[in-house]
This record gives sequence, C-alpha cells and structure tokens, in this order.
Amino acid sequence: MPGSGVGAGALAWRRPRAAVPVGGSGMDKKCDQKSCASCKSSGEKQSREELISCKLSRIKNKVLVMSGKGGVGKSSVASYLALGLARRNNYRVGLLDIDLHGPSIPTMFGIRGKLNISAEQEILPYEYGPNLKIVSIECMIDDNNAAIIWRGPVKHGVIQQFLADCSWGDLDFLVIDSPPGTGDEALSISRLIPDAKAVIVTTPQEVALADVRKSINFCRKVEMQILGLVENMSGLFCPHCNQFIPIFKTGGGRRTSEAMNVPYLGELPFDPAVVEGGDLGNPLLNGDGDVPFVKAVGGLVDKVLDGLGEQHKTE
Ligand SMILES: Nc1ncnc2c1ncn2[C@@H]1O[C@H](COP(=O)(O)OP(=O)(O)OP(=O)(O)O)[C@@H](O)[C@H]1O
Ligand SMILES: [Mg+2]
Ligand SMILES: [Zn+2]
Repeated sequence: MPGSGVGAGALAWRRPRAAVPVGGSGMDKKCDQKSCASCKSSGEKQSREELISCKLSRIKNKVLVMSGKGGVGKSSVASYLALGLARRNNYRVGLLDIDLHGPSIPTMFGIRGKLNISAEQEILPYEYGPNLKIVSIECMIDDNNAAIIWRGPVKHGVIQQFLADCSWGDLDFLVIDSPPGTGDEALSISRLIPDAKAVIVTTPQEVALADVRKSINFCRKVEMQILGLVENMSGLFCPHCNQFIPIFKTGGGRRTSEAMNVPYLGELPFDPAVVEGGDLGNPLLNGDGDVPFVKAVGGLVDKVLDGLGEQHKTE
C-alpha cells in the first residue's frame, strides 16, 4: 500500500506480536474481564481485534467528542467532561486523545514527555488524580516526526494499535477527543468501538451549525448513537458585574438539535479562565463551584449521565 510505511515509522512504541494461534480455540474462550494480562500471556489473545474487544469489554461507556468544525472546543469539552465525570463519586474515567494532527490534551493537562511502557509493551496512562487516566497519541509519537503526513489506512492502523495497547484496566467512562471533521479518525472509532456514543460540539454561529449538521448525518450513516449536542463559547458572563453578554446570538445549538431531532445537552459559556487554564496546563474545576462555566460543566455531566442511563452521584 503506497505510503503506508510513512506513519508507522513515527510510532515510539511497538508491540512484538506472537503468531495468531491456529485452530481458533482461543477465539471461543470468553474473557472473564479481570485477567486480560494473564490470558494474553498464555497466548490465547493474540490478534489486535481480540485484544481490543478484550480491553473494551472492561470499559462500560465510550463517549466520542466530535465536531465537523475545528476550534469549537472539542478538546476542552472532552477534558472538562472527563474531569467532571471523575469528580463524581468513584467513577473511573479515561481520556483518550486520538488527534494525530494536533493533539492538545497534553498541553491542557500539563503532561510532558512520553508515557511509560510496561514490560508487556502496554501503554501506561498518565494518572491525573485518583479517578482520571489520560493517554494522548502525542505521548507516543517521536518528536522529530511531528510533521508527518498520515494517510487514511495508516491512521486506522495507528488508532487500532493504540486501542489494543493502552492499559486502562476497568473504567466506567472513556472519553475520546477527536480531530475536527468526520474523516478517518471518526470512521475508525465507529468501526473499532461500535458502542461509542457521540457528543457533538458546536458554537452559536451559523457557520459552525452547518458543520454540525454534517456531523449528525455522519453519525446516522455509521449508526453511532448521538448523546446530544452541546453549544460551547455560548456568550460570556461579565467578569465585573456577572451580567450575561451573548457575544454571538445564542440559541442556535438548541434550535439545531430540535430541527435535527437530537438531544440538547446545554451550553457552556465563554470563560477567559478556560483559555488561560488550557495554556497553563491547569484546567478549572478544582476551584470555585459558583463560576458559571464550572456550573455549566456540571449540567453537561448530568445530561451525559442521563443519556447513558448512569446515576448522577454526588461530587
Ligand atoms: N468555553 C470556553 N471558554 C473560553 N475558551 C474556550 C472555551 N472552549 C474552548 N476555549 C478555547 O478555545 C481554543 C480552542 O479550543 P479547543 O482546543 O478545545 O478546540 P478544538 O475544537 O479541540 O480545536 P481543534 O479543532 O484544533 O482540535 C482553546 O484556546 C481553548 O482554551
Ligand atoms: Mg482539539
Ligand atoms: Zn459587566
């Protein structure tokens, strides 16, 4: 396949793979969900597909944060959704960044350098607090290959290997941050994680909403359940008098969700502290619960939990 070796060379981690057992006896055996490491080393789970389904069977809910448009706040929404879920009593949350072109999760959480690799050649997630594990594809790619051109099939292979090799353990939620658009990455996720559900991010402007309709149609085409639409950067609460200022006209997200018949998950206001926190690698939420943005994240978490049929649980 032309070009397929290009991206593969950029990976900093490689799994040495034993041959798939012949006769298929390993395929018939069901994973007991607790002993993946042992059943793998006993040679019963060798193919990537088996490894992925084994790993995913230990993750209850998978949420793909997506948008047809760049810069609308997908990575921010994914980060705050993961943080918000992890703050709810004892939920175990993973945050996975599969943006091969511009991964931003490490910057947002202040994660530097490469992730550790276990003796079994598995990627060990960065532990951000007791309930939140983070893996970014950036932590796995050699720096000098950063400007690599990823072709579709290579991307699929990288995401597949990535899913097979991350050592999440048991999770209640895996939140996945994706690059803009409905391209290869979203398609890969829809194939590799058939029970992933989408949270679609938009901003109030009409141009962003047009792209959102494309995202909704994409999800319908690949039969990915849509948890709903969230309107980000939806107005600003004045830092001086706390009055609400609708910078762009608001309400477009709600109208679009009604017109397209998808649930509306609410809006997150524009908050300069989000930009600052993102740049400094120090996200909000640890601070004042009265901040409108923090409150709005709580509302989003509630709606997502409702959509997944999970309990709210207190912070
Ligand atoms: N609610 C918000 N208030 C203030 N700033 C925000 C908000 N949401 C996102 N931002 C800022 O907007 C910029 C873009 O956000 P982000 O990186 O999350 O978007 P994205 O959709 O993931 O972008 P890309 O398409 O490049 O992946 C960042 O600087 C981020 O800090
Ligand atoms: Mg992003
Ligand atoms: Zn004011």
